[in-house]
Amino acid sequence: MVKIAPSLLAADFACLEREVRRVEDGGADWLHLDVMDGRFVPNITFGPLVVKALRRLTRLPLDVHLMIEEPWLHLEAFARAGADILTVHAEACPHLHRVLQSIRGLGCRPGAALNPATPPEAVDYVLPDLDLVLVMSVNPGFGGQEFLPLSLAKIRAIRSRLRHLSGPAPLLEVDGGVTVERAGDLVEAGVDVLVAGTAVFAEPDAAAAIAALRRAGAAG
Ligand code: DX5
Ligand code: ZN
Repeated sequence: MVKIAPSLLAADFACLEREVRRVEDGGADWLHLDVMDGRFVPNITFGPLVVKALRRLTRLPLDVHLMIEEPWLHLEAFARAGADILTVHAEACPHLHRVLQSIRGLGCRPGAALNPATPPEAVDYVLPDLDLVLVMSVNPGFGGQEFLPLSLAKIRAIRSRLRHLSGPAPLLEVDGGVTVERAGDLVEAGVDVLVAGTAVFAEPDAAAAIAALRRAGAAG
């Protein structure tokens, strides 16, 4: 069954505890946390201090998406803060394999993210080292953007590579512009995890929004 990872970026930051409770009680599988540095992406969000505070609020796995330059400098801080999954951008890591090994060495599950213009080949040789492949379906930096249809072909291409892996395959996650209307096509293309910011937090009933995404995914 498809996993739903609400992205806290679309939450009300004046009431984080209530917002986390809303999606945890609403049936979320993971909590997706968008870390931005104002360099790799134009926006700035939060760092390990906030991840640590959230760790105390929830039992949900923390899916930490690092949209930062030189992410290797901060892995230990995020691991100590309680991240379960640590995803770095392939574009930010000239030594991606080494960074993924470091993440595993810190006791976290390694993920690699691809911007819309980055081809699937960027992670071909590290697929066996990954627990998660994150396909960005918007240019990262902001919530509430329109889904880029080019992402569907990339999801299919990565899914077909994963089928040919001999060992356990990483999960395939899509992030950006995910809606109930698109969930079926995304799951049909091979997605395991739907990140959804606006589609969950902008809805008054988060549980209903999560259920609708899951239902639409199951029909895919
Ligand atoms: C974008 C972030 C996303 C964002 C998704 O840079 O990585 O996780 O919060 O938000 P929606 O679902 O609103 O596109
Ligand atoms: Zn994200």
